[in-house]
Amino acid sequence: EKGGWDSFMDKEIHEEPAAVQRTLFGRLDDEGSINLDEVRIDEHDFKAIDKIIVIGCGTASYAGMVAKYAIEHWVRIPVEVELAHEFRYRDPILTPRTLVVAISQSGETMDTLMALRHAREQGSKVLAICNTQGASIPREADAVLYTHAGPEVAVASTKAFVAQITAAYILGLYLAQLKGTVFRDEIHQTLDSLKAMPQKIQWVLDTQPPRVARAAEHLADANSFLFLGRHVGYPVALEGALKLKEIAYTFTEGFAAGELKHGPIALVDEGEPVVFIVPPARGRNILHSKVISGIEEVKARGAFIIAVAEEGDKDVERYADIIFWRPQCPTLMSPLVDVVPLQLLAMDMAKQKGYDVDKPRNLAKSVTVE
Ligand code: F6R
Repeated sequence: EKGGWDSFMDKEIHEEPAAVQRTLFGRLDDEGSINLDEVRIDEHDFKAIDKIIVIGCGTASYAGMVAKYAIEHWVRIPVEVELAHEFRYRDPILTPRTLVVAISQSGETMDTLMALRHAREQGSKVLAICNTQGASIPREADAVLYTHAGPEVAVASTKAFVAQITAAYILGLYLAQLKGTVFRDEIHQTLDSLKAMPQKIQWVLDTQPPRVARAAEHLADANSFLFLGRHVGYPVALEGALKLKEIAYTFTEGFAAGELKHGPIALVDEGEPVVFIVPPARGRNILHSKVISGIEEVKARGAFIIAVAEEGDKDVERYADIIFWRPQCPTLMSPLVDVVPLQLLAMDMAKQKGYDVDKPRNLAKSVTVE
């Protein structure tokens, strides 16, 4: 079943190009319009949506955080992202014009299902982004966008994450198309950038594993890790930190890189491994220089710097001890590639320590209790 891989996690990470590709496949009809899978929401109601709340748990919530940056940019309506268990019990403001987007790989996560029911009881529409056909969450939702990542067996989620981001981007572009907030040409250009991502993920899988393996070997004994990113790199940092906690049992914290001087920098000591997600430098991206100055600050305190950065980034080369390269792509697309070396890092570190990467202790694949 593992098809020659020594773990499901390894196999599933290598299925990420296909997961993105299949999630994108067949979304454009003959007129060049975007299609969703099952929509039991009137087009008129869809157009009237004035707020989105994305709910999910764990990795799914981080995919939602990535989507917030893209959807607000394209659709110009507020997008909130909330953990399903927090959302459910805080009396959220929901109206018939609120679209709740429930993201779940399994479609059976009880926290997310209860939150979905709560939203529908309050009269909001729910769209599910789900990887499992016919599961409870898509069954109870008003609309469904399936991620076609294929069955995910390893407990730690990998390919589902990139498929969830892809699906959420399709939803964003669909809404932009309905509301006319983005020109048709730009929608098509963005879809083209998305379509180019499977190849870019493949490039990472073909070229970066030896670097990741060296990093894992060097860092296997580290007691803790920090992960820092800005903009879409922030949820990627959180996801990288979660993977390392889950399967290598290493204490990690993910932060927004801008928070560094507001507290977390106190944790940085000689040799502390700090992972930075560095945005593209092209177009004199202001975020790039801000992340670089964060790197300089922790480097000055003796940190061991691991960076995920765009190929050829000279600033990063100057400071980082280990670099995982990303091929050029637009900032909004970068999470699809940047998460890959972080998943591999967690897997390699867990293997170094002799752990079962597919079945981490204390965790279940789907959490069907609240
Ligand atoms: C992380 C992980 C969990 C799940 C979370 C939600 O690797 O697997 O954090 O992402 O339990 O699960 P689903 O997506 O099935 O609702």
